[in-house]
Amino acid sequence: MDMLATVDPANIHYIMSSNYSNFPKGPRFLRIFDFLGDGIFNSDADSWRNQRKLARLLITHQRFHQFLVKTSQDKVEKGLVPLLDHVSKLGLVVDLQDLFQRLTFDTTCMLVTGYDPGCLSVELPDVPFSKAMDAAEEAVFSRHVVPGETQLAQLSLGFSGLFQRTRLLRPRSEKNSKQPYRKKQLTNGRYSVSKRMNFIWGDDCSEFKPERWISEGGTIKHEPSYKFLAFNAGPRTCLGKEVAFTQMKAVGRL
Ligand code: HEM
Repeated sequence: MDMLATVDPANIHYIMSSNYSNFPKGPRFLRIFDFLGDGIFNSDADSWRNQRKLARLLITHQRFHQFLVKTSQDKVEKGLVPLLDHVSKLGLVVDLQDLFQRLTFDTTCMLVTGYDPGCLSVELPDVPFSKAMDAAEEAVFSRHVVPGETQLAQLSLGFSGLFQRTRLLRPRSEKNSKQPYRKKQLTNGRYSVSKRMNFIWGDDCSEFKPERWISEGGTIKHEPSYKFLAFNAGPRTCLGKEVAFTQMKAVGRL
């Protein structure tokens, strides 16, 4: 199988936006995520269009937004803050990434099912469902790298419906794959799999510099989505981008 990896914004714009209809996810992607059934993440054409319309209706509904804001704020006030107080009183060292992952996981489960699995509590419990999600994500990653029948077959996938919805709320997609209907010449030939490219972000691309996102006038600097691809680009842009920002802002208010 021929594979091409690219981070070039011009190619990404071409694939994700201007020539989008020639680049469906395609059969290989659908095989890798077969355990998700035919949900929005692994469908193309009419099935995808219909699901997108429905999902958009839900996510943009005012009552969903109100529920999201309340759930996120409650989690921060009743979960994150007491936990941070606890660790600071005891002088413990914690992994912030783990804490934020727990926060997102709890909030997501509450948004999707109304049930709070309580990952974000002072005991930092091992929640089997959360572990199973991590294992499934690892397995999906291997399927990307080693195509064929792999670990997923060994996993118990009874939770796939919920996985789909929680992934919907907490995806960690770091790559995007498309399978063209027709062969096309891409605009230029720079191929790589790393996203921190100096030709895109400058020589300081590996440095943590939040000011990269602030303009000289002090306002937020927007970069086009085909350049900063975290939320995907074009017609399949992440539907939950605003949800993710609401969750981040709930933490940022602290
Ligand atoms: C920081 C958090 C998030 C990131 C980085 C992210 C990123 C992404 C990416 C890269 C895709 C494209 C996946 C693909 O095509 O295979 C995607 C799709 C999607 N995301 Fe997100 N996402 C986030 C949070 C959310 C949340 C909170 C929701 C829902 C409330 C959500 C809903 C969706 C949906 C429905 C799609 C499918 C869009 C489609 O195929 O038309 N995402 N997201």
